[in-house]
This record gives sequence, structure tokens and C-alpha cells, in this order.
Amino acid sequence: MKPKIAILCSGGDVSGMNPALKRFVEYAYARGMEPYFVHHGFEGLIDNLITPAAYSDVAGIITRGGTKIGSSRSKRFMEPAFRSIAAENLKTHGITMLIVLGGDGSFRGMERFYTEHGISFCGIPSTIDNDINGTDYCLGVDTALGVIKEAIDQIRDTASSFRRAFIIETMGRNCGYLALISAITSGAELCLIPEIPIDIHEYTGCFKSQIAKGRDYFIAVVSEALNSTEVAHWFEEELGFESRVSVLGHIQRGGNPSVYDRLMAYKFVTYAIDALSEGKTHSVICYTKSHFTFKTIDEVALHPYRIDEELLSLGREQFLPSHCQM
Ligand code: F6P
Repeated sequence: MKPKIAILCSGGDVSGMNPALKRFVEYAYARGMEPYFVHHGFEGLIDNLITPAAYSDVAGIITRGGTKIGSSRSKRFMEPAFRSIAAENLKTHGITMLIVLGGDGSFRGMERFYTEHGISFCGIPSTIDNDINGTDYCLGVDTALGVIKEAIDQIRDTASSFRRAFIIETMGRNCGYLALISAITSGAELCLIPEIPIDIHEYTGCFKSQIAKGRDYFIAVVSEALNSTEVAHWFEEELGFESRVSVLGHIQRGGNPSVYDRLMAYKFVTYAIDALSEGKTHSVICYTKSHFTFKTIDEVALHPYRIDEELLSLGREQFLPSHCQM
């Protein structure tokens, strides 16, 4: 009998999940396995929304953001009783291996599931926040950064037509990665993220001097963990500069997957299927220093993610008020 393997998406969807589903179906068949989809994440695992996956299901989806099989944030999967139901469902289908596209919370849940019910799994870090410890890259980040870049470039067009400050709020939950990379690569004047605490009032003198010399618009990128409205008030009240807040929101999660995310999806899934078929029972496939490595759940979920120190020091050099050019 052919080994049966399933895939599910958990948590915030990312562009790159559909290319991952395509590679999953094609590579599972190539390796002599029977692929299955679990629809709507762990919720679907509990509700038995499990179907065989065919080539035709993944035809043409490589260009699409989101995930064809749906995702969810499941509270029920945190409870042992629902995990038992989920395990029964998989056993009824004869599925012994599971690939989970999601974040560290999903992987922690899977670790419990493995310990209780012996279902092997491999996690693929997937979140636009890029906030999973142990991996330099999470699926979907490059596409999200591309969406943010487009948005900021377009906001710059209108900002430069008015004398205005634009405060652009990016997603990322508690992590400033998206904001920091976007601010550096969009030539922003200001970047506010939790990892680089800044008192904006320290910018007042420098920005006033820039305005006096002719600067007529500002681009500020602020992570969603901080208060964009406060920054807008500061521009208006202390600098006398009209300001607008632009919350980019969920557009950051969508869009045509970038070449990089398509390639990373392909590689992550290939490594995950190889690992499971070679007997690895509970690991996460990480991408660190340009190499793929398998890590334990403790390595990825026990410690909070911290942005790479080299990037942070570039951020400090560029955005600390003491480095502001008068
Ligand atoms: O984790 C991905 C993410 O998009 C975060 O950046 C954001 O804080 C959150 O999900 C939004 O969640 P929801 O889609 O439930 O509004």
C-alpha cells in the first residue's frame, strides 16, 4: 500500500502557499505517495475535511495568493479531546504523515499531536511576519515586501505632490521585520519598530531644519505594534506638517507570489516530503545562512524570534535620531 501524506495551512495565509500545494501534490506522486488535502487548517482536521489531492486540483494555482485549501486559527486544536478526534480522522483515512504550513504556535500544537498520537509531521515556516525563531526566512515574506514596496512607491507619488507626511503602517504583529526592510528599501525618513526604541521628539530639531532647507514631504514606516496615529499627531503639532496615516492592512497578505516565494515553496516542500519519507518524525524545515536545516520544535518555538543583529545595526545607523542629517 502506498504511504499517505496530507498537507494543511494554519494561521495567516501567505502568498506562496498555493505554489507549495502544487509542489506537494506533484512531488508526493513522484515519490509514490498518496497526497491528501486538509481543508481549513486544524479546524478541518477536527471536522474531517480531508480529501484526496489530484493534479487537477493544483493546475494553474501557482500564480495565486492565499491558499486554495483554506486556513484557520483553531482554538479547538489546543484541547486534547479535539486532537483525539483529529487523530481518529487521519487514521480512518490511513494518513500517517502531515505537512503543516504555519507559524510556531501551529508547530507547538503539532508537537503535542505527535507525542499523543504518533502522527509524523514536518513544519514549514509560513508567515509574512518573518517572526519564527531558528529560520532566517518564512514563506510569503518576499511577496509581502513586494506589495509594501509598491504601496510606498505609490504613496510617495501623492506625498510629493502635497506638503505632507505619510505614516505607513505595516503588519508584523510584534515584529518589526517588514517595517524595517521596507523603510530601508523605500528610502523612508523614519522607521519605528519595537526592536529599535526611538523617542520621536528627538527628531524635532533635525526635521525642522530639513523643512527649513526645503524638504516638503516625509515617508515614515511604522510597525503595527506601535502607534501610527501618535506619530501623525507629532508631525502636525510639533512640525506643523499636514499628515496622513495609511494602514496597509491585509493587502500585504495577498498578491501574485514572487519568484523567490515560488522557489522557496518548492524547496521547503521537497525537503519536508523527503524528511518524512526518510523517517524524520517531528521537525521544522528552516532556512538559515543560505542552507536548509531541520530543527526541533523547541529550537523554533521555545524562544522568541529576534531580528538579525546585522540588520538591526543597519536600522540604527539609518534611523536613530542621533544620525539624522540636518
Ligand atoms: O500573522 C500574520 C498577520 O497578518 C499579522 O501580521 C497580523 O497582525 C495578523 O496576522 C492579522 O490577523 P487577522 O488576519 O486575523 O486579522
